[in-house]
Amino acid sequence: MSKSNNTFNLNPSLDRVDGRAKVTGSATYSAEYDFENLAYAVLITSTIAKGSITNIDAKRAENARGVLAVISHLNSPGVPGYGPAKQPAERAPMGTAFRVFHDNLIYFNGQPIAMVVANTFEQAVHAASLVKVTYAAEAHQTDFEQNLAKAIIPTGVQRNKNSPFQDYQRGEPAVIDNAEVKIAATYTIPTQHHQPIEPHAIVAIWEGADKLTVYDKNQGVKSAQGNLAQAFQIPRENVRVNAQFIGGAFGSGIRVWPHTIAAALAAKKLSRPVKLVLSREMMFTSVGYRPYTIQNVSIGATAAGKLSAIIHEGTGQTSAYEEHLERTILASRSLYACPNVATKYRLLSLDVNTPTWMRGPGDATGMFALESAVDELAYALKMDPLQVRLLNYADTDPERNLPFSAKHLKECYELGAEKFGWKKRAKEPASMRKDGKLIGYGMASSLYGFHRHPSQARGMMLSDGNVVIQSATMDIGPGTATAMTQIAAEVLEIAPAKIRFELGDSSLPDAPGQNGSSTIPSVGSAVHVACQSLKKKLAELAESMPAGASKTHADILKYHHLPKIEVTEESKSGPERDQYSMYSFGCHFVEVQVSPATGEVRVSRVVTCADVGKITNYKTARSQSIGGIIGGIGMALMEASVMDHRYGRYVTNDFANYHIPVHTDVPQIEVIYIDKPDMRVNPIGAKGLGEIAIVGVAAAIANAVFHATGKRVRELPITVDKLV
Ligand code: MOS
Repeated sequence: MSKSNNTFNLNPSLDRVDGRAKVTGSATYSAEYDFENLAYAVLITSTIAKGSITNIDAKRAENARGVLAVISHLNSPGVPGYGPAKQPAERAPMGTAFRVFHDNLIYFNGQPIAMVVANTFEQAVHAASLVKVTYAAEAHQTDFEQNLAKAIIPTGVQRNKNSPFQDYQRGEPAVIDNAEVKIAATYTIPTQHHQPIEPHAIVAIWEGADKLTVYDKNQGVKSAQGNLAQAFQIPRENVRVNAQFIGGAFGSGIRVWPHTIAAALAAKKLSRPVKLVLSREMMFTSVGYRPYTIQNVSIGATAAGKLSAIIHEGTGQTSAYEEHLERTILASRSLYACPNVATKYRLLSLDVNTPTWMRGPGDATGMFALESAVDELAYALKMDPLQVRLLNYADTDPERNLPFSAKHLKECYELGAEKFGWKKRAKEPASMRKDGKLIGYGMASSLYGFHRHPSQARGMMLSDGNVVIQSATMDIGPGTATAMTQIAAEVLEIAPAKIRFELGDSSLPDAPGQNGSSTIPSVGSAVHVACQSLKKKLAELAESMPAGASKTHADILKYHHLPKIEVTEESKSGPERDQYSMYSFGCHFVEVQVSPATGEVRVSRVVTCADVGKITNYKTARSQSIGGIIGGIGMALMEASVMDHRYGRYVTNDFANYHIPVHTDVPQIEVIYIDKPDMRVNPIGAKGLGEIAIVGVAAAIANAVFHATGKRVRELPITVDKLV
C-alpha cells in the first residue's frame, strides 16, 4: 500500500480479485439466482431434422401437477421483433436468425418447439415427457461429405464485392504446376461443440409491461441488451442484462440464442420470473458449434525451400437459414512471404442449427490445414520444418503490403525451439523411441488478428481512499477484473486492494462483448485512459493545497470536501488501422508419445511462445495459454460430434461420448511470452492472447504424430483407429 511513485511496485501476477468468491461459492452464476414466485421452464425439442409439426397434444402435460403453461407456436404470445408468422408457414429466407415458437416448421433435429413452465424444475421435466408431438417429416440433408458438391460462395459474399471471403488471388498461383517440390492434401475437421462447465442458463423477470431484467449466461451484456430490446420491441434502456460471473465460454455466448428469448417469453406470458437452464444434451443443438470444415491446400516450393505458391480452399458447414462465415482460409494470405497465393471459401447449407464462433474461430480450423501442409512440404523437401518457416518468414504483411505494427514471431520460433530442445529432433519419422513408445516432435505457427472496439470506462476516486472502475465488459474466464485492476493500479499507483472493478451489467458504460481476444486491447485501453484522466483531475485539485501535505487521493478529496471525483472516458482505434497490419503471433512445440501396439497418443510436453504485446498479468495470461492448448489437445485427439444421418441427430450428446481432455491428458505446458509492448495498436501496448493460444495446436500435434509414426492424419480427431 504505497503512497509515493518511488515505492509503488505492482506484482505482475496479481491474484485473481474474484478468486475467493469463485472457489468458495459466493460468486453467483445465472442459474443460481433465486426469486420469489420463480417458475421453471424446460424446452421440448424436435425429433426430426426437417418438416413440420402437425400436432402438439399438451393436454396431459397441462393437467400435470404444478404446470403453469405449455407454450409453443400454437399459443406463443409472439416475439414482436420476429414480425407476424405467415399463414401458411413459409421457410425463412437465408439470413433469418432462428425464431423460436414462430411457426410449425422444423429446420433441424433438436430444435426447440415447445416449453413447459411449472412451479418446480422436476414438475416441468415430468410434464415435458407427457407432450406428444406429431410431424410431417421431409427428407433432410445433414451429411457434410455427401453434400459437398452443393457448397456455394456464401450469398452474403456474392452481394459484397469487398468481403474478405471473395475469391482471392495475388501473383500467378498457377505457377504451382511447375514447382520443383509440391504437396497437395485435404484436411478435415469434424463438428466440435462448446462444452464449458456452466451450460447456458437464464432467469428472466419482467419488471413491468415493457421492462425486462435477465440474469443470463452470455459474453456481451450490451449486445444481449440490444438483441432483447429488438426482439421485444422495447427501449434498450428498459432491458437490463446481468452476467457477472460466467462458468467458462469460448464463443457460444456471443449471440443471443432461442432459449433466451423463450425464457423471456414465458416470463412475460406468466408474469412471473422464469428460470431456464439448458441440459448438457441441449448444448449440442442450442448454442452453435465449430463447423465441420474440409480444406484443400496445395503448396509449391523451390528445392531450396522457398515457397512459390499457396492455394487454400475451404468449405464450412452452415444451417439452412443462416450463413456463418469463418476466417478459415485467411491466414494463408499473410503468414508466409509467398508471391503467388489463391484462396477460396465456400459454405454448405445443411438441415442443422447454425454454427458459431468457437475459440480461434476459422483460424484454429485453417491453421490446422496450413501448418500441417507446411510440415508435409518440409518432409518433401527433406528440411527441418522450423527451417522452412524461417526461410519464408514475412517481414511485412504480404496481403496488405503494409508493415506489421510489431512482429516478433522469429523470436518466438527461436525461444520456443531452444526451451523445447528442438535440435534433439531426429530427422527421420518413426525413429525416436523411449520406454517402448514412439516419440515425435512437431511444431506449428499461430496467428490471430488484432481486434479493438470502442470501449468506455468510468473511474471514481472515493474520499474513503477506494477507487471504483466500471465498464459493461465481461469475464468469461480469463480474469478481466483482475487485469483491469492491474491496469488501473499501474496508472494510478494505488494498491490493487483499494481498487474495485465492476463488469457484467448492461447499465455500466458501453463496452464490447468478450470475444475475438479484444477485451484487454479495447477495455484495458479505456481503463488506462480513464485512470489517466482521474489522475489529471486529482493533480489539478492538489495544486491549490498547501505544499508538504500528504497527498493521497483521500486527503485531496477531503481537503476539498468532495465525496468523489468521477470521469468516463472512451478509447478506440484511429488511423493506425490503415497504416499497419496488426496480429498476435506465436508458435507451439509439442512432443507426443505413441504406443506402437494400440496407437494411443499422449501429448507429453508442450512449449508455447506468444508475441501478444505487453503482458498485463502473467498468472492470468498463463492460464489463458494453458486453456487454449488444452482446447487444442481436445481438437487434435478427441473432440468430434458424430451424427446419425438417418435422423440428423447427434449421438455424441453427452460427456460419455463427446470426449474432452481431462487432467491426465494434459502434460506439462511451458508458456513463454515475448512481452514487448506494441505501442502502435493502443495506449497500453497489449494485443489479444486468448485465441492465439489454440490456433495451430492441432497442427503441431498432428505433425508430432507424423514424426512419431510416419502416419499423416489429415482428418481430426487423431483417434487410435487412424494409427493402427
Ligand atoms: Mo471467442 S470465439 O471470440 O469467444
